[in-house]
Amino acid sequence: MLVSAPGRVNLIGEHLDYNGGPVLPLAIERRTVVAAGHAEGWRVVSAIDGTVHALDPGADHGDRWTGYVAGVIRVLRRLGACPRGGALAIASDVPVGAGLSSSAALTVAAARALTGLAGRRVPRERLVEVAYRAEHDEVGVRCGRMDQTIAALARPGFALLYETGTGQLTHVPLPGRVWVFETGVAHRLTGGELNARRQQCEELVALLAERGRAVGTLADVEEPELPGLLRGLPPPWSLRLRHVVTETARTRRAARALAERDLAAVGQCLREGHRSLQLDFQSSCAEADLLVEALERHGAHGARLTGAGWGGAVIALLPEAGEGQIVDGTRREFAAAFGRFPATWATRAMGGVRSEK
Ligand code: GLA
Repeated sequence: MLVSAPGRVNLIGEHLDYNGGPVLPLAIERRTVVAAGHAEGWRVVSAIDGTVHALDPGADHGDRWTGYVAGVIRVLRRLGACPRGGALAIASDVPVGAGLSSSAALTVAAARALTGLAGRRVPRERLVEVAYRAEHDEVGVRCGRMDQTIAALARPGFALLYETGTGQLTHVPLPGRVWVFETGVAHRLTGGELNARRQQCEELVALLAERGRAVGTLADVEEPELPGLLRGLPPPWSLRLRHVVTETARTRRAARALAERDLAAVGQCLREGHRSLQLDFQSSCAEADLLVEALERHGAHGARLTGAGWGGAVIALLPEAGEGQIVDGTRREFAAAFGRFPATWATRAMGGVRSEK
């Protein structure tokens, strides 16, 4: 079995997938490839360290890459869809720790490769669930389902509007390119800020109920209700609520603008989205803020931090005409401030998990 799955960028809709809101990711050109063959027991090798590891699927691997593979194996075993053993070789050009979902690319590709090895044809939606369970339940990152969903279900040339509250999926055409500027600041998710933010969001649901506004998820709160609900609510909860509610409205607005090919309007949503991450969700970092400001000053339609945050990558929509100048000017400003150039590349929207020859 030879399988690949893509990394992703999220155009907009950050920290909404565990709050019942909409997200708008796309699969990028960078992928993770998993080759799997039958074996007694489990052996894995990755281009990351080039060493063949004997893998004990029952052991605790912390947040090492082997832990994600072990997590997939454990979930598949419970479903009775796992081969008895396997030899896996993994290679990837999705940067790790760059906010581009290298972990979902790995878990989705591994889930497809291993179910294939077990002689099962598993629908893509089930692969999403296996990969999500592996990451959320087994590795312990309290993520939502955005990354696994786009890695499995992406279509080339389309972003995916995923309403996580209802499960509704709408493929929205994205013909152009998205630019990616890596901050070079690696984020670690397990046990870190993401889990803390998710807990604050859960506390908020309880706080709102105490105030007589019971909601299933935070994204159920409508924008006009905000001023009333924010009155008397202390930070950080007030800030988190404002992010989730405004980001929910912004993401739907951005999806409509994208469908109408109004990139200036999409860009405006990205700008506002970044401010919200910076000030309200407080998940940005100095490197990302500088990139976003410089990109805007040099003429980008809009730019924002993508993914969980606290490092990772900034994405930008650029007018084709001024592309070169905007990219060069931004990279120079970043180098002047931080003494190094950010890794910079562009991608089109690509397809999800697939078999390779
Ligand atoms: C990480 C998680 C996703 C999502 C984003 C923030 O990438 O894995 O589920 O919560 O952060 O939007």
